[in-house]
Amino acid sequence: MTAAVVHTVAAVRAAAAAARVAGKPVALVPTMGALHAGHARLVTAAKTLAPFVVVSVFVNPTQFGPAEDYAKYPRTLDADRELVATAGGDLVFAPTAAEMYPPGTAAFVEVPKLDGVLCGPRRPGHFRGVCTVVLKLFNIVAPDVAVFGQKDAQQAIILTKMVADLNVPVTMHIEPTVRESDGLAMSSRNRNLTAEERALAPRIYHALRMVQARAAAGEFDAARLESALLAATQAIPGARVDYASILDAEHLSPLARLDRPALAAVAVFLGTTRLIDNVLLD
Ligand code: PAJ
Repeated sequence: MTAAVVHTVAAVRAAAAAARVAGKPVALVPTMGALHAGHARLVTAAKTLAPFVVVSVFVNPTQFGPAEDYAKYPRTLDADRELVATAGGDLVFAPTAAEMYPPGTAAFVEVPKLDGVLCGPRRPGHFRGVCTVVLKLFNIVAPDVAVFGQKDAQQAIILTKMVADLNVPVTMHIEPTVRESDGLAMSSRNRNLTAEERALAPRIYHALRMVQARAAAGEFDAARLESALLAATQAIPGARVDYASILDAEHLSPLARLDRPALAAVAVFLGTTRLIDNVLLD
């Protein structure tokens, strides 16, 4: 089984418009491909929310920094089309970079403040690239609903704010993180880990769970929880911790006590692979 694929803006617009004319609401699942069970969950969820599900597969150059892995990001379109079909998706939109960014493209979208923490300062321009491509995809497909993963919590928060502030007529739906049986959050980048790094990687989630357990047991001091999180991630052999933070889960602002929903988030390099993960403390 393989999903139909279109490569142009005109073709995906026509397909989505035809679905709407046939009375079928449209869901969009934006991805960069190299699809795994985490993405499949989003597609399956999308199908329960709308009868026509478009999955975009586009490795978006504007969200990669000059020293990042754009060139070596895995590209597996045939396998992606199979996964989309199996998960219940109807159409894959796989444009070229030139189709999405014709020469001379100049406009962009930014959500300041929310991109000033966590991954924002470590990946300058990243969220600007994400917001720009996602708003373009929204304008191209005009979905009724769009599905994203909690795995990329900051991305979900920023895109939700973009949609609210710019009155984009789409309903945002966020799905929980899908994990391997040992707890590691599924990610297209996991395949870059060596066997040794792969064996250590679940300890990122264990550190987050430890903090969650402490909060559940009545430790509400955010600074103490944050230092415990940092210590636990730093204790992973060979890990280089990019950040280990506890922030207000809606505004990504600092908080002293867990008196409202909080997000515990980490970014860790294992070798050259940067892994992110998070849990909610609520
Ligand atoms: P990508 O990393 O391919 O992820 C596509 C979607 O899948 C995102 O919403 C992400 O949060 C979700 N996802 C990834 N791993 C997941 C997991 N283990 N469990 C649940 N959901 C998971 O995120 C992007 O692409 C890009 O930034 C994009 C939004 C497509 C813009 O280019």
